Order: sequence, then structure tokens, then C-alpha cells
Amino acid sequence: MKRNKIIVTLSILITIGVVVTSCVSAKINDKTGSQLWTENCRRCHNSPPSSAFTNVQWEVINTHMRERGLLTDVEYKKILDFMQQGD
Ligand code: HEC
Repeated sequence: MKRNKIIVTLSILITIGVVVTSCVSAKINDKTGSQLWTENCRRCHNSPPSSAFTNVQWEVINTHMRERGLLTDVEYKKILDFMQQGD
């Protein structure tokens, strides 16, 4: 009986975890590159305008800053798209 309780409790916790995780990633998917840039990149420094660097330079910068900001694939792509719009 005790074992069953543990299994039920674990399943409930896992279900909650899955629901919370999918909500968080849905939120990231809803966000624009501009929002993600403000939230993730401006923690450490001010943002130069998109026109400050070329598309190729942005790619290099974002590859470095992606590690600093611990960005996911989706966040990285959206921010890069946003920064490259300017030129
Ligand atoms: C954890 C802190 C941190 C985060 C988060 C961060 N940066 Fe930076 N960033 C730095 C530091 C420190 C430097 C200066 C040293 C260097 O270039 O490594 C820098 C430099 C830069 C520069 C200047 C490069 C140059 O050659 O003048 C740009 C542009 C930049 N970051 C963009 C971004 C973008 C875009 C993001 C979000 C994806 C981001 N940063 C997230 C810390 C951070």
C-alpha cells in the first residue's frame, strides 16, 4: 500500500512538472525577439541598435552571448532574427 502511495505521488509530481514546463515553453514561443532581447540580454548590458552590427557580426555576437545568457534554440533564433532585421 505504501508503495502505491509513493507511485501515485510521483506521478502527480511528474504531471505537474510536464504541465509547468510546457506552459513556460509556450510562453517563450509567444514572445517576440525584441521581448526576449530585453529580458535576456539587457540583464548584463545596454543594447546597441540593430544597425550597429552587420548580419554576420550579429551571428558571431549572438553565438557568444547565447552562452552567457543560457538561451534555448528558440530564444537564440528569435533574438538573432530581431537583431538582423535592421540592415
Ligand atoms: C551574463 C551576461 C551577459 C548576457 C546575458 C549577455 N551579454 Fe553581451 N556582453 C557581456 C559582456 C561581459 C560583454 C563584453 C565582453 C565580451 O565581448 O565578451 C558583452 C558584449 C556584448 C556586445 C558587444 C560586442 C562588441 O564587439 O562590441 C554585444 C553586441 C552583446 N554583448 C550582445 C548581447 C546579446 C544580443 C545578448 C543576448 C542574446 C547578450 N549580449 C547577453 C555580457 C552578457
